[in-house]
Amino acid sequence: MKKLLNTTLSAMTAMIISFNANAAGSNVHLESANTDITDEASLQRGAKSFMNFCSGCHSIELIRYNRIAKDLNISEADMAKNLMFNADKVGSKVFSSIPADDAKLWFGTTPPDLSLTARAKGTDWIYSYLKGFYTDESRPYGVNNHVLKNASMPDALWQLKQDKSEKEFEQDVRDITNFLDYVSEPVKLIRYDIGIKVIGFLFILFILSYLLKKEYWKDVKYGKWRAKD
Ligand code: HEC
Repeated sequence: MKKLLNTTLSAMTAMIISFNANAAGSNVHLESANTDITDEASLQRGAKSFMNFCSGCHSIELIRYNRIAKDLNISEADMAKNLMFNADKVGSKVFSSIPADDAKLWFGTTPPDLSLTARAKGTDWIYSYLKGFYTDESRPYGVNNHVLKNASMPDALWQLKQDKSEKEFEQDVRDITNFLDYVSEPVKLIRYDIGIKVIGFLFILFILSYLLKKEYWKDVKYGKWRAKD
């Protein structure tokens, strides 16, 4: 039995290790994104930054503006006025503004849709990637990336990096990453909420059952109750 358990455990560990290696794509060191999907202010800031700095090239087609507005407590009027650059209707999906053919011509590849990137690559990957640009004159846009070698994406956040303190910049990147995590599984917010309620319910049920058990066994304990023979 013990042997079986040991073999199973080591097989599982091996799987986890290889899964992590796959997620990272290589052996680059990833920083911890430290995001918090329940932090609504962070998600709101992230949505704003995403629309401003990323939606020019990247779509997040699996979500619609009004869903974001509802989940993140942004009024639809506010959404339409401040966050919708590529659409007229709040019911529209979040497309990018760049035509795919032009993008291919300019970057050599079409900027991928980012709806599921947080699930495919993880938040640490996105966070480290966005922070991982460095000057490299041999590349078409003068930058290269530590996480995705020879990435064909320009450093979309270079202006922020220049204008802000390192801490503020890290927070911006964290907010965008948090937003992409939310986009990759919007129901996560509801799932967490239900999870907490279910645990609360089970806790109360536990107390009630315990009291009931005590009540039932009281008589047995004090010898008042005898089984009929
Ligand atoms: C000027 C166009 C452009 C802008 C603006 C831009 N990107 Fe990109 N992005 C690209 C291109 C092109 C790629 C493909 C890179 C490659 O595969 O070499 C890419 C790749 C990515 C990837 C990797 C996806 C994957 O699965 O490999 C992520 C994540 C990403 N971008 C996030 C962002 C975020 C977040 C922003 C906003 C802060 C942003 N990008 C702004 C063009 C852009």
